[in-house]
Amino acid sequence: MRSDLCGNVTEQKLDQQVEVCGWVDKRRDHGGVIFIDLRDHSGILQVVVEPDNAEAFKIAEDARYEYCLHVKGHVRSRPEGQENSNLNSGKIEVVVDTYEVLNKSKPLPFMLDEEAGENIRLKYRYLDLRRPAMQKNIRLRNKLTQSLRRYLDDMDFLDIETPILTKATPEGARDFLVPSRVQQAKFYALPQSPQLFKQLLMMSGMDKYYQIARCFRDEDLRADRQPEFTQLDIEMAFVDQEDILNMAEGMIRETYKKVMDVDLINPFPRMTYADAMQRFGSDKPDLRIDLELVDVADALKNVEFKVFSAPANDPNGRVTILKVPQGSKMSRKQIDDYAPFVARYGARGLAWIKVNAKENGRDGLQSPIVKFLDDDSLNAIIDKTQAENGDLLFFGAGDYNTVTQYMGELRLKVGKDLGLVKEGWQPLWVVDFPMFDYNDDEKRWDALHHPFTAPTCDEAELRENPAAAISKGYDIVMNGVELGGGSVRIHKQSIQSAVLDLLGISKEEAETKFGFLLEALQYGCPPHGGIALGLDRMAALMCGVESIREVIAFPKTSSAICSLTSAPSEISEKNLKEVHVTAIYPEIEEDKDA
Ligand code: AMO
Ligand code: AMP
Repeated sequence: MRSDLCGNVTEQKLDQQVEVCGWVDKRRDHGGVIFIDLRDHSGILQVVVEPDNAEAFKIAEDARYEYCLHVKGHVRSRPEGQENSNLNSGKIEVVVDTYEVLNKSKPLPFMLDEEAGENIRLKYRYLDLRRPAMQKNIRLRNKLTQSLRRYLDDMDFLDIETPILTKATPEGARDFLVPSRVQQAKFYALPQSPQLFKQLLMMSGMDKYYQIARCFRDEDLRADRQPEFTQLDIEMAFVDQEDILNMAEGMIRETYKKVMDVDLINPFPRMTYADAMQRFGSDKPDLRIDLELVDVADALKNVEFKVFSAPANDPNGRVTILKVPQGSKMSRKQIDDYAPFVARYGARGLAWIKVNAKENGRDGLQSPIVKFLDDDSLNAIIDKTQAENGDLLFFGAGDYNTVTQYMGELRLKVGKDLGLVKEGWQPLWVVDFPMFDYNDDEKRWDALHHPFTAPTCDEAELRENPAAAISKGYDIVMNGVELGGGSVRIHKQSIQSAVLDLLGISKEEAETKFGFLLEALQYGCPPHGGIALGLDRMAALMCGVESIREVIAFPKTSSAICSLTSAPSEISEKNLKEVHVTAIYPEIEEDKDA
């Protein structure tokens, strides 16, 4: 139907015939001449309908926003002064010979070049996706996927599909369940990731696997979380941690070069989990912000101020300072506004000191808490933080995990508020995660990565001191976003059983849930490991958008609804019966109570 794309018709086609299709982006009538901005994914082309082409002119007079057109005409230069340097086709226009309306359009529920609410955008996603910004996002995502595929194909990875209807795998979220019709009262689970299948593929001798895999997790949604999302999932046999990190790093570096023309730092820096938490209060530090936490418990063990001395003397406590260079310019209100912010993460207060003139000792420090601290402690604080005049010190004191989290969040917030986030890309490997996290509510250990991650120690040490066990797990972080994670896996049945045991999973439960894995580990399983990158997050970062919804063609809302199709929806009693499910609706329960 067409000889050219709208955005590609340039002065090189002067005096030639072209045939183009697209949507009416704008229509203007000037002195009896109709100008139409015709848009397709490649750009905009100015189309002119002159009154002496009476047949075309008559129809074009009726042209409205988003009508779909098919136009033939010849290219001519725009008159002097009428050029548009913003358009590729800005030097020319197409004078219409034949003009065909392929389809009319109802008035749109929103204008494509204006802001619109997310609900309406998602309900009419097919219109929203016509926006040039969305076209750009989806096309960049395609480029990203193709580039990753090409890289992995060149490295002899096999693209292998794994089941969607499967059994629950523990990635830490709730499963989506699918009732079976054939097997009465049984359910499939949708995969939270292809984790166990990719491990089985290594045991199958496939050597190197990848898949652009859809994953399903029933968890609370945020800007960077969807109930179904996409991973670039990778697994390799006969590798150690170094092999996997090098492979993934090379892939990410080449992808950034190909897709963004960005040269990432070589090699990516690495940081242990312990360091990341200590210095940045996060397991995914944003290294574009130069602020760091400085622990000062040692200096405050003997002060009378219990808010500090109690956690300073508690092995599970933390007293730490975020130094904000030149932060004393902040007003009292600005400073006080950070207290409710950190309170959201469990802080009971946010003490601070403005360092006005440190040479004057305590008189040079401005703060409601200076009176609670002796001179030695004040000097030690200034010394440890290497504070300069004009700096502001924020204090976090209390239980280690709570303080670490809220001071980490404060670091990000202050960094953003004060414009301290540097331009550019900051990749980081976070390594040496602990194997376990103690679950106080259930009095047992939780896996920090997942239960198939190998420990660095042997089974005896693992059982003896689970708290100290370090895993062969790692995360790749980009600009403070967790892009992906992976690990070297357990490839010995005895260690796998020990880990499941420590996680409080009984032998029977392990047998029912992972019996197939425990069995498979006993037939010459090779050492193996891998990684999964959140493709939606990677695309969102590259597109510079806040939410992964902007890079997913048909995403769900934050309440897990597809506004376009209205999924999820009710199903008939008959359908439910077929899959042997009885629905208990809240209204029905209420009726019973009445
Ligand atoms: P993990 O659970 O860390 O690891 O997931 C890997 C990456 O997937 C992305 N991600 C998400 N993206 C959007 N919405 C979500 N709800 C969501 N959840 C996770 C993140 C994350 O880093 N099987 C292991 C990988 C392995 O060990 O090889 C796994 O799934 O970017
Ligand atoms: P209070 O004596 O409770 O009024 O606290 C005095 C100062 O210490 C106030 O500025 C509080 O914001 C601050 N503060 C109280 N609890 C904490 C805490 N856990 N961490 C940091 N600062 C705190």
